[in-house]
Amino acid sequence: MRIAVFFAALISHICLAIANTESIVFKVPDTFLPVPLLIAGDNQASISLRGTNRALKTFDVPVDSQFEVELVDLSPGDTFFAKLCWTAIDPIDITSLSYSVRPDYTARDGHWQDAPLRFFLTFKAEPNSYPHLSKPSVPINISVSAIRMGIPVDLHATIIFMTLLIGVIFIANRHHKLYDRFKNA
Ligand SMILES: *[C@@H]1O[C@H](CO)[C@@H](O)[C@H](O)[C@H]1NC(C)=O
Repeated sequence: MRIAVFFAALISHICLAIANTESIVFKVPDTFLPVPLLIAGDNQASISLRGTNRALKTFDVPVDSQFEVELVDLSPGDTFFAKLCWTAIDPIDITSLSYSVRPDYTARDGHWQDAPLRFFLTFKAEPNSYPHLSKPSVPINISVSAIRMGIPVDLHATIIFMTLLIGVIFIANRHHKLYDRFKNA
């Protein structure tokens, strides 16, 4: 069962490597004071990390215009790895991928002191083909994962698996002299 999970993780990362990706690493300021409640009627695209250290969501991103996704329920002081992933079928480039922290003056009755902060990822999907891409929007997966021990948490399983695999091969080789057997086969 466990090994099946490791294989699934490995295969999913191989698939991701075939698709196109763009990534960014960012740190949430230690002083980050999030908006206490989501503003009603706000249909801002968002990804929540409530009670988890990784999340993935697919967005229909309009081509040739600035797209913004709000990251909510981030822990102050945490470092994250965000990855955008789209299929090679859609010939686009992701440009100006960046993040920003902005005070929300609409909360707390418009008081600008101690305004809560909102965290955004911003980027633009630009067509890179001729003739021009005819679709008005392309699906893009955005995954966000916390970085622990210098490695994004969604890669931990893969790295543990590969370490174990190398260990098993190493031990098997010592006991059975695999190399000599193959050489003399
Ligand atoms: C996007 O995410 C979905 C759901 O996890 C997955 O099935 C799909 O293969 C992903 N697409 C890309 C391009 O990674």
